[in-house]
Amino acid sequence: MSLLAIIGGTGLSSLDGLVISEKRAVNTPFGEPSSELLIGEFQDKSVIFLPRHGQQHSIPPHKINYRANIWALKEQGVDKIVAVAAVGGIRADMAPSVIAVPEQIIDYTYGREHSFFSEDFSSDKHIDFTFPYDESLRQHILQAAKQQEVDVVHGGTYGAVQGPRLETAAEIKRMAQDGCAMVGMTGMPEASLARELDIAYATCALSANWAAGLSDSEITMTEIEQTVANGITRIKKILSALIPSP
Ligand code: HPA
Repeated sequence: MSLLAIIGGTGLSSLDGLVISEKRAVNTPFGEPSSELLIGEFQDKSVIFLPRHGQQHSIPPHKINYRANIWALKEQGVDKIVAVAAVGGIRADMAPSVIAVPEQIIDYTYGREHSFFSEDFSSDKHIDFTFPYDESLRQHILQAAKQQEVDVVHGGTYGAVQGPRLETAAEIKRMAQDGCAMVGMTGMPEASLARELDIAYATCALSANWAAGLSDSEITMTEIEQTVANGITRIKKILSALIPSP
C-alpha cells in the first residue's frame, strides 16, 4: 500500500486538519529526524507529517538532518513525499504568493551530508538524477491543484542555497542567468536522498518574497511569514485533493 508523507517547511510546522493518532519518536543510523513523526489522518486518509525545521521551527536549513528525516520516513513505509517549501521568486512569473511545482534543481549548497552511501560506497550507488522530481507525483500535484482551482506555475528550476542568510543581489543575478526560477534553502539534499532510497519526491513551492535585488524593499521575515501564512491555505487545498495519491 502506498503511504504519503508531507514534509512541511517555513509556515507549515503543523498541518491543521491533520488528526494525529501518534507522535512516533524514531532514531536512525544517521541520528534523529527533525521531529517526532506525526502519524495520522488528513481528510480520513493516512499520512505522515514531518516539520523539517522541527516543531518549534528551531533547526536552520544547513543544520537539518536530511538523512535522518528521509531514512525515518522510508522505515515507516513511505513511498511518496510531497515537500512544501517557501522560496524567493526569481523569474517574472514567481511573484510573492505564487505556487509552483518545480521540475529541475540546481544545487548551490555545500558541506551538507548528502548521501546515504558516503561511508559505504560502491559503483551501483550513483543514482540517476537527470529529472530530480518524480514526474508522476508532480502530475498528481498539478491535477490536484486544477481540481481545487488553485493556480500553479508548472515547472521551473529550484536553486537550492545554503542559508540561513538570504542572498546578495549578485548571487540572485547569477542564479537568474543560470536559469533558476526560484531560490530556497532546503530542496537539497532532500530530493536526492529521497531518490537514493527510491521514494517518489516532488515539491510544492510557495513564493514568499521577490529574491534579493528584484524589488525595492528589504526582505523581512515578517513579510515572508505573512505571505506564507496567506498562501498556505491554497497549499492545503492542493494537499487535501492529493491524499491519498493514486
Ligand atoms: N531566498 C532563499 N530562501 C528563501 C527565500 C529567499 O529569498 N524566501 C524564502 N525562502
